[in-house]
Amino acid sequence: MDGESILHFDHKPHASPVPADERTALLANPGFGRVFTDHMVIARYSEGRGWHSASVEARAPISLDPAAAVFHYAQEIFEGLKAYRTADGGAAMFRPDANARRFKESAERMAMAPVPESLFLDAVCELVKVDRDWIPTAEGGSLYLRPFMIANEVFLGVKPSSEYLFMVIASSVGAYFKGGREAVQVWVSQDYTRAAPGGTGAAKCGGNYAASLLAQSEAIRHDCDQVVFLDAVERKWVEELGGMNVFFVFEDGSLQTPPLNGSILPGITRDSIMTLAREGGLTVREEPYSIDQWRQDAESGRLTEAFACGTAAVVTPIGELRYPNGSFTIGNGVSAGQTTKRLKTSLVDIQRGTAPDPHGWVYKVF
Ligand code: PLP
Ligand code: COI
Repeated sequence: MDGESILHFDHKPHASPVPADERTALLANPGFGRVFTDHMVIARYSEGRGWHSASVEARAPISLDPAAAVFHYAQEIFEGLKAYRTADGGAAMFRPDANARRFKESAERMAMAPVPESLFLDAVCELVKVDRDWIPTAEGGSLYLRPFMIANEVFLGVKPSSEYLFMVIASSVGAYFKGGREAVQVWVSQDYTRAAPGGTGAAKCGGNYAASLLAQSEAIRHDCDQVVFLDAVERKWVEELGGMNVFFVFEDGSLQTPPLNGSILPGITRDSIMTLAREGGLTVREEPYSIDQWRQDAESGRLTEAFACGTAAVVTPIGELRYPNGSFTIGNGVSAGQTTKRLKTSLVDIQRGTAPDPHGWVYKVF
């Protein structure tokens, strides 16, 4: 924690929140990222004054000057974390301190004013408390929290902004991937890379996602759910998916994931999976893995499973890889293998409070 003074949040409750019956209907099948809660958190930063004017208020459009820096030079970062209903009627978040830390690191990389970790945590807690009725109770449901920060100095000179807006919105969500298949199909991007050494790949900035969208559209055109990016230098080492990290499971039971090389997002799910796998007696290597090796190992049977992981996707098996002149399947191509299933269950049980939490990952909100 950074020991900064805690801001007071001004509470301005929504004058006409969504009626309970409408909310219940929305929560029945929310999908991902389309159903939003009644409130949002907003706080402001200006050079000299620091963070100030924090409030919890009705979720509504915001007004920005057309010359606000974010529109021109893309100083924007975000986070993604989930709140869950617990058996005792309360709510808990999974490792929000890790998100707070990563948000700070992203801010530093983008030359933005860091949000004190205590402000980040207070902000997400305030929103979960006020919008507690929006946390889905159905299996697989959660409240996805989206903290983000934008540069809003009104100035067209190219320099770090002197003013920022930190906000948190929340979305009631179910599964990230729709469609009947349990395993996803992944397109290998040959023409486009996501991040280069020295770039912003390890920061959670909107620009990385903008850079991924053309490749993601190519994936959709090839009937794939996601795109996997290779490294920008040799164009051979597997880095990560557009919005998830990746793990490989071998016939000897060991796991491998690409190392954090500066161009991969350091996923909190990735870190948690490595810990759980090692505790379960599995060997986990953080070593580069080439796309050619992936194909050879899948074809020879040395590779038995592969999965994507992240806050939105949780743990999702990868069933098939497609590229311009071919494809190959992993495992049976449609469902999760044993190790993927076991790791997913271990993680989800901790997240939902149905298994012990020896690492103190679960953060009780109320
Ligand atoms: N990689 C990218 C590019 C992502 O967008 C995400 C999602 O946040 C991840 C990896 C996984 O990170 P986490 O497990 O912290 O959600
Ligand atoms: C998340 O998992 O939180 C992300 O940011 C990934 C995005 C694909 C929704």
